[in-house]
Amino acid sequence: MRQTKIDDFLELERRIEEEVNRSREKDKILFQQAKLASLGEMIGNISHQWRQPLMEMNSIFLPIEAKITLGQSLENSEILEAIEKLNSITKFMSDTIDDFRDFFLNDKEKTRFKILEQINSIINIVSTGLKTYNIKLDIIMKKNPEIVGYKNEFSQVLINIINNAKDELISRKIENPYIKISVFEENDFVIVTFEDNAGGIRVNPLDMIFEPFFTFEKKNGSGIGLFMSKLIVEKNMQGKLKAYNKNDGAFFEMKIPKE
Ligand SMILES: Nc1ncnc2c1ncn2[C@@H]1O[C@H](COP(=O)(O)OP(=O)(O)OP(=O)(O)O)[C@@H](O)[C@H]1O
Ligand SMILES: [Mg+2]
Repeated sequence: MRQTKIDDFLELERRIEEEVNRSREKDKILFQQAKLASLGEMIGNISHQWRQPLMEMNSIFLPIEAKITLGQSLENSEILEAIEKLNSITKFMSDTIDDFRDFFLNDKEKTRFKILEQINSIINIVSTGLKTYNIKLDIIMKKNPEIVGYKNEFSQVLINIINNAKDELISRKIENPYIKISVFEENDFVIVTFEDNAGGIRVNPLDMIFEPFFTFEKKNGSGIGLFMSKLIVEKNMQGKLKAYNKNDGAFFEMKIPKE
């Protein structure tokens, strides 16, 4: 009698483990899907980010070419200056493409990284897209804390939240649109908050936005962005990701333990 109970218990334990593993596998697949879904958006970002420097490159040598055609004398310094400009533009382009590549690499191991570094690489990815719509991006860093975790995944969360705010600011045609990111420390936690003035999350209950495939009032939403973000913050970084409405927009708070 006793033995059967123990057997039952072991069987139950085995089944629970099986189910947990299965649900982890599901999360992994969803995660990969989410990355693919954001690929299209990222390519859009690259083309935005490269258009301007390509145009600048095009025009750098125009005055030099004109002088040569007109048979005018040309200073070495003019040529050197043009070459220097060209170098700085190609460096910018190469940095952006590196940031994109990093973004799509899977982090193999946890590392210690500075929040500001990741924020900077995000800015390299989204800035031109935001400028196109006159969206102001404010970053307020009271500290530049370090955290331990998967840094590309961390960036992915930032991009998801920024892109969501951008989507709403554009589709609701908000005047003087802005996104404000603040970074500070509180006890043993690093806190990153995101605010916008797009009018807030119009979903009730609000936490539905974190469910997989939940998308609302969007043409091409897959509904994976926030689900994936929560997974990254809460399962992989042992933190918390929460959403509220505040003032005239949405407010996201990401709380991550320092160690
Ligand atoms: N800053 C915000 N302001 C208002 N609503 C928001 C904001 N961020 C998210 N939402 C709402 O939450 C929903 C879920 O967001 P989520 O990122 O998970 O999916 P999505 O943006 O619709 O699709 P995708 O998978 O392409 O990101 C959005 O469809 C939107 O309605
Ligand atoms: Mg989204």
